[in-house]
Amino acid sequence: MSDTKAQQIILAARPKGAPQLTDFRLEETSIPSPDSGEILLQVLYLSLDPYMRGRMNDRASYAQPTALGAVMPGESVAKVIASNHSAYSEGDIVLAHTGWRTHAISDRGDLRKLDPAFAPVTTGLGVLGMPGFTAYSGLRVIGEPKPGETVVVAAASGPVGSLVGQLAKLSGARAVGIAGGQEKCSFVKNELGFDGAIDHKASDFPAQLATACPAGIDVYFENVGGAVWQAVLPLLNDFARIPVCGLVAQYNAAGPGEGSNLLPETMWAILRKSLTMRGFINFEFAEEYYVDFLREVGAGIANGRIRYREDFVDGLEKAPEAFIGMLEGRNFGKLIVRVSEGS
Ligand SMILES: NC(=O)c1ccc[n+]([C@@H]2O[C@H](COP(=O)([O-])OP(=O)(O)OC[C@H]3O[C@@H](n4cnc5c(N)ncnc54)[C@H](OP(=O)(O)O)[C@@H]3O)[C@@H](O)[C@H]2O)c1
Repeated sequence: MSDTKAQQIILAARPKGAPQLTDFRLEETSIPSPDSGEILLQVLYLSLDPYMRGRMNDRASYAQPTALGAVMPGESVAKVIASNHSAYSEGDIVLAHTGWRTHAISDRGDLRKLDPAFAPVTTGLGVLGMPGFTAYSGLRVIGEPKPGETVVVAAASGPVGSLVGQLAKLSGARAVGIAGGQEKCSFVKNELGFDGAIDHKASDFPAQLATACPAGIDVYFENVGGAVWQAVLPLLNDFARIPVCGLVAQYNAAGPGEGSNLLPETMWAILRKSLTMRGFINFEFAEEYYVDFLREVGAGIANGRIRYREDFVDGLEKAPEAFIGMLEGRNFGKLIVRVSEGS
């Protein structure tokens, strides 16, 4: 890419099942110029997140689908390289909704400035950003773990799951993580300090999960759905709480009803065990809890009690392949594309 050219990745086709490389297209454009009140951003790091799979469908959801031919949506850490906005100066590092591109114009006064002295700026995409806040708010508002209780979470080495388990431990609960493969499980137990970690790919996964939760499950933070939910359901205790955060095992399904139908069994369990099951999208809690989140989790990172892992991929052109891999569990930690040098 030359100094005067920008790149962007657009949605070229709607996936049928798992996304393919041909569903994306890399385009070269000119670097735009900021008008009055606008700033020009150079993307340093792009976040890849499971929710983007939903935006590729033409289905009603909490957010509008991405139009065919539009830039893939996404949040990034970006540098201000030209500013006609009084609140921003060249060199500022901000969190911005730029989409999958190297450069973007913004006229928003509500970008979040990042202070590299507070924490590495990439944490704004993971543990100190949207995924971290999702873990914090879903656990605090819906999960409400108490000392001695058992909290279970899957995708446990990722940005949401890894913080859920660590916050559960800090509240005095036991944390059991579910992850794909021995390497991730050993990280979850030995590096993040969970009490147990179970490989969902093991042939006896349900039995192993039952052994790891001898007193049953009081909080199940739902990140994946599918076979993991099937294994969790019989282990739930009376009055268990289930924040329904994500269903990544089901995102590539052709329709919401695809897969084995656990609805009757789930409804019986909700009734018999007085379960509380609540879906949520992180931003609904932002006004009330975001400041607490930044303070508490920021302090936990600064003093080393909260740990996180990032998984970097180099070059915007690698984003589609990395994104497809994330939906299959090939990432190990918060997946971030290093788009350009400059921080
Ligand atoms: N509600 C909200 O506001 C909100 C906000 C952010 C994220 N989320 C949701 O939170 C969940 C975790 O997000 P994240 O950003 O932390 O993702 P992540 O852990 O970085 O990546 C997704 C992980 O899901 C696991 N996975 C994929 N297919 C699976 C399957 N069939 N069974 C079990 N695990 C599977 C894989 O880990 P393993 O290799 O360990 O299986 C994969 O690495 C996602 O469902 C996401 O959509 C919700």
